[in-house]
Amino acid sequence: MREVRLNVPITADNAIVWQDDCLYLLDQRELPGREVFIACPDVQTTAEAIRAMVVRGAPAIGITAAYGIALAARERYAEDAAGWRERLENDFTLLAGARPTAVNLFWAIARLRDVAATLGNADPFPVLSGEAIAVHAADREDNRRMGDFGAALIDGPTSVITHCNTGGLATGGWGTALGVIRSAHAQGRITRVFADETRPWLQGARLTAWELVRDGIPVNLMADGAAAARMAAGGIGWVVVGSDRIAANGDVANKIGTYGLAVAARHHGLRFMVAAPTSTIDLETADGSMIPIEQRPADEVLQCAGRRTSAEGVDAWNPVFDVTPAELIDAIVTERGVIERPDRDKVAAHMASS
Ligand code: MRU
Repeated sequence: MREVRLNVPITADNAIVWQDDCLYLLDQRELPGREVFIACPDVQTTAEAIRAMVVRGAPAIGITAAYGIALAARERYAEDAAGWRERLENDFTLLAGARPTAVNLFWAIARLRDVAATLGNADPFPVLSGEAIAVHAADREDNRRMGDFGAALIDGPTSVITHCNTGGLATGGWGTALGVIRSAHAQGRITRVFADETRPWLQGARLTAWELVRDGIPVNLMADGAAAARMAAGGIGWVVVGSDRIAANGDVANKIGTYGLAVAARHHGLRFMVAAPTSTIDLETADGSMIPIEQRPADEVLQCAGRRTSAEGVDAWNPVFDVTPAELIDAIVTERGVIERPDRDKVAAHMASS
């Protein structure tokens, strides 16, 4: 993958850049130390960037895949103007295999495939790249709406706990859970954020802290294991997290450690909010037990910042997501509104609404 320096402002809300018909991704593996973009001129590089976590966060993965399909269509059309659509099937498979849990990836592929199916034998690139741009823009707007819905639930001023990174970097801009936090902070409802560092990838330490400091939102970083003690110490109104996939019954898959936070929040009488766009709700998955959980290499746990920190000879268990049962969730917030105390009927009704 090729690093490039782009002449654009480097902000969390500008981490996915489509310029001169090429995709550029702010390399999230390098933050906060280095602010560089990776060029993705083709679908192979795009799929590799998703797999390697140059880009991460469920909505950002979906947006990236949408651009990847546009890039693939350009290549397939150049190879075979009559058979490009059939050839594109391999590219859908390539992208779908990049990361298994974030359903926004599959949602974006399905959306672009549906558009491709309506096209004739003219060059598909203008229409498909336009669709990817629309997916990207809609995510930004949806996050602003979600932010307002979520903020309205928070009777502040209070502090909140968050996990992983759910901000501009993880989305098309503004963020899901971090979008709620940004909106609520702007309204004076949130005074301080306690961010879990989020082992093993340190999305909290490297990315959420980077975003919040740049926004001027007071933030304390804490070890993941400190969260329950922080709840017991008082002053926390809500735990606010994102999601990679929400099953039809309201069970929520999110970054490993989220389930433990929900259990601890219930124990301490705190409220637990999940902010995610409707593209994260997967009615095809009946409940959380059916959500595929990505397992990543043992070295991510055995090492820290590329240096071995564990005893030689030990093995690791590295599921990177867990499932929080619906009964531990007080509110799921989407761009359409709020599902309080989610269950199967309420999720179905929400998805049927506009
Ligand atoms: O492994 P990651 O960094 O892609 O995991 C991201 C998360 O778990 C986020 O909480 C989730 O995607 C919601 S982001 C808007």
